[in-house]
Amino acid sequence: MTTAATRLVGTAHTRVEGRDKVTGAARYAGEFPFAELAHGWLVLSTVARGRIRAVDTEPVLAMPGVLTVLHHHNAPRVDTGYTGVMGTPPDPTIGVFQHDRVPHAGWPVALVVAETSEQAREAAEALVVHYDQEPHDVAFSAQREAEAYPLGGHGPAVVEKGDLEAELAASAVVIDAEYTTPEEYHNPMEPHATTARWEGGRLEVVDSNQGTNWVAGELASLFSLDPGSVRVRSEHVGGGFGSKGVRAHQVAAVMAATVLRRPVRVVLTRRQMFVLAGHRSPTAQRLRLGADADGRLRALEHRSLSQTSTVHDFVEPGAAASRSMYAADAHHTAIRLVKLDVPTPTWMRAPGEAPGSFALESALDELAERCGIDPIDLRIRNEPAVGPVSGLPFSGRNLIACFREGARRFGWTERDPRPGVRREGRWLLGTGTAAASFPAMAMPSTAALTAEADGTFTVRINAADIGTGARTALTLVAADALEVPTDRVRVRIGDSDLGPAMFAGGSAGTRSWAWAVTAAAEELRRSVAPGADIPPEGITVRSNTAEAVGALAQKERHSFGAQFAEVAVDPATGEVRVRRMLGIFAAGRIVNPLTARNQFVGGMTWGISMALHEEAVRDRASGGLYGADLAGYHVAAHADVPHIEADWVDDPDPDDPVGIKGIGEIGIVGAAAAVANAVWHATGVRHRNLPIRPDRVLMAGGDA
Ligand code: MOS
Repeated sequence: MTTAATRLVGTAHTRVEGRDKVTGAARYAGEFPFAELAHGWLVLSTVARGRIRAVDTEPVLAMPGVLTVLHHHNAPRVDTGYTGVMGTPPDPTIGVFQHDRVPHAGWPVALVVAETSEQAREAAEALVVHYDQEPHDVAFSAQREAEAYPLGGHGPAVVEKGDLEAELAASAVVIDAEYTTPEEYHNPMEPHATTARWEGGRLEVVDSNQGTNWVAGELASLFSLDPGSVRVRSEHVGGGFGSKGVRAHQVAAVMAATVLRRPVRVVLTRRQMFVLAGHRSPTAQRLRLGADADGRLRALEHRSLSQTSTVHDFVEPGAAASRSMYAADAHHTAIRLVKLDVPTPTWMRAPGEAPGSFALESALDELAERCGIDPIDLRIRNEPAVGPVSGLPFSGRNLIACFREGARRFGWTERDPRPGVRREGRWLLGTGTAAASFPAMAMPSTAALTAEADGTFTVRINAADIGTGARTALTLVAADALEVPTDRVRVRIGDSDLGPAMFAGGSAGTRSWAWAVTAAAEELRRSVAPGADIPPEGITVRSNTAEAVGALAQKERHSFGAQFAEVAVDPATGEVRVRRMLGIFAAGRIVNPLTARNQFVGGMTWGISMALHEEAVRDRASGGLYGADLAGYHVAAHADVPHIEADWVDDPDPDDPVGIKGIGEIGIVGAAAAVANAVWHATGVRHRNLPIRPDRVLMAGGDA
């Protein structure tokens, strides 16, 4: 494949919508004015399992401004039996108010709709719902493995290559360790918000999501509507991270708009987001590594357990990435799931890779320690020539280049390998490193490109800019493909009427969209001679990359990276401070260094948060969460985040028209392991359970 010439791709460009955003001209989903707008407020179950016996609607219907209360007796029926965007039936959680069963705490049981949001809230909080409560079980732990069943998510659940036990027995060094990560929540800045209305026989939804085709398609299926009669728009989105697909609130809003024949808005509160927006499952992972004395791996076993709800299977595939990372004679990976009375988990930035890399990259560090070799040398020694399990060639694997560049810039060579020897006053200092990887995917997309009569160009593609800078990246890609300056290109995104395109997910948005935009530009060059007269309505061409994307040869396709962290640990208080981080990535051609750096640094910041702060704790008595808000659920704040540097090595994807791989998720991968490995180096104590809280550091007499 020929790679397009790049003039603007690779140069820093501020966000094309930046001025609109900082001046408030850019509207988010909850801000669009509509005449006759009514407001819905969701009522969530207070029990974790049982049946709804009665909903006392009468007193609430008499409250000021209340228009209706939807619940399982009176809500419109929907169909959840279809095959959804992901190729499986949807999570039945989106089929709200269809029956009296409550499968977890926070299950939506009613929507109160009123003239104002305040009236709706007051009435929703006053609504009395009677339940027949049943015993629930929310206790996730490694011990649940016995009841778990294999499920792989996008890949197989269990992969076995070679004789694991024989290789372990023949190994000079064996690491056998268990790692856990807690339940985690996305917390995008902008809460989920949607407004639904019927307009000229069409369902129109103004929403905050990661893909309007996705939401429109699911709403059409649920309500048995012709797909062309549903339009979903999502122009500006304040973060998604996997949580903004189709969820209960959009469906409830459509129901209410249908019943009331008025526009209805439903916005989630921060606390409601802790149940209705999905979460990252906790994981319990076991790693067994067997190696020769020089660190060469003979055996790599990675087993990962995660939780799902009783109503839908969603798996956090913690062990999946281990299949592509290191050469070993025997490779066993297994991904298992246990059903509990909890909400269904969902995608959260680097699903699988984020917790999986914590376990794998911590275990590698333990192996390096035991073999007495440098952690980077250990990874070089186990660098595979082809996919360790698949045998497929890599589309590009510049992991070692990342480690070499990172080691040079971080000052790794001056590191004393012994733990617990560097001190600075009360602080113990240490450094750690870890590898990162994330799949590099492309998905079919369509685009339309118009050469306007005034010499400008309009790109129409149903991309989603969830804060990533996608709109700006596509402006650069289009300007290069058309060989014009950026001010002659305008990019329209975030509207299902623009036609099918990949959603913002899987780190595959920008690559998939850029491919379609590039293909449309090529088509325009073929059909319009340079200098030709453009009619007043312009000349429009269309592209569809389904065939080209489908023709991609099977390869191991990933981005890679090397994470470095320096920490200071106060042994008297258990406090861990990250002092600096460096991430070097090999993640394809970087379209816009400004926003790309933002993505990487954001992911790495989240890695600090994952390592030290984030933990949603489920109350076994109520089945809900303790402190389900940003006071109770700690995330890294400014004072927790030191100087973070992110940079990259040259790594254009040879199979992509622009050379893109995708960067949305890899920044978090390996970041928590780098911090944990640095904590070991500072203190000599391994922390295998996240987050590394002060109490865990304090209590750690030996290994924690
Ligand atoms: Mo991402 S977790 O694919 O939004």
